[in-house]
Amino acid sequence: MSTQTSSQRLTVPDLAAMKGRQKIVALTAYSTPIARLIDPLVDFILVGDSTAMVAYGRRSTLAMRLEETISHTRAVVDCTQHACVIADMPFGSYQESPEQALRNCAQVLSATGCDAVKLESNRTLASTVAFLVDRGIPVMAHVGLMPQFVNIMGGYKAQGLTEHSAATLHEDARANLGAGAFSLLLEGVAEPLARRISEESRQPCIGIGASPACDGQILVTEDLLGLGGPRKPRFVKQYADVAAVIRVACARYANEVRQGEFPEREHCYGC
Ligand code: KIV
Repeated sequence: MSTQTSSQRLTVPDLAAMKGRQKIVALTAYSTPIARLIDPLVDFILVGDSTAMVAYGRRSTLAMRLEETISHTRAVVDCTQHACVIADMPFGSYQESPEQALRNCAQVLSATGCDAVKLESNRTLASTVAFLVDRGIPVMAHVGLMPQFVNIMGGYKAQGLTEHSAATLHEDARANLGAGAFSLLLEGVAEPLARRISEESRQPCIGIGASPACDGQILVTEDLLGLGGPRKPRFVKQYADVAAVIRVACARYANEVRQGEFPEREHCYGC
């Protein structure tokens, strides 16, 4: 849990300053009920493109649309006051050119009031990150297992396990840090490399499936609550079975309606 006591929202420089002082805690949120609950508990909330799979049941994150990113991010910003809010730029909204990336990132920032954007970025896209940062867009660069590259990778596979993969990924990380990303998100990265990148970098490295060596951790909230889909990655720890709680409550409701036990007098007007 964050040790911040002020009611002011954490900023990008606040997150950067936490490096080496305290672990950074992050979760995803796409909607008001979850965002409100996690806001006081975390340092940043990511409105991930995982929205496409978790909230809409689509096959991959490639199906997320820019207007959906804006709509979900605005909902999360509007109901929170403590955590820094970061919007995940959807597939196809930033890869074409630095100019396209600037146009879409600026739209997301101005339409939602979020604090920063996240881009899945390798060495090629690092020049886009530099272009954005130079123009006032704070960028978290996502490296390692990049779900928007699923068709190139041929599946969701941990990265940095071979010498060649580790060297390539190390270069991606260095290029994005050099480009001015305020933080790296390392997904599905082998522990020795995640440790090396975290130790080398002056910017905080947030891990998901990238070992405790990172400066902070993030999980998809639905995964830790037991509300995720059938595919449970090795890096997920389930902290609760909220699905079971929902099933019991809704079954009780359905039964009471069918038996004529709900609603009762106290739920009625004028009687
Ligand atoms: O979209 C998402 O939820 C992510 C995870 C890595 C947290 O990017």
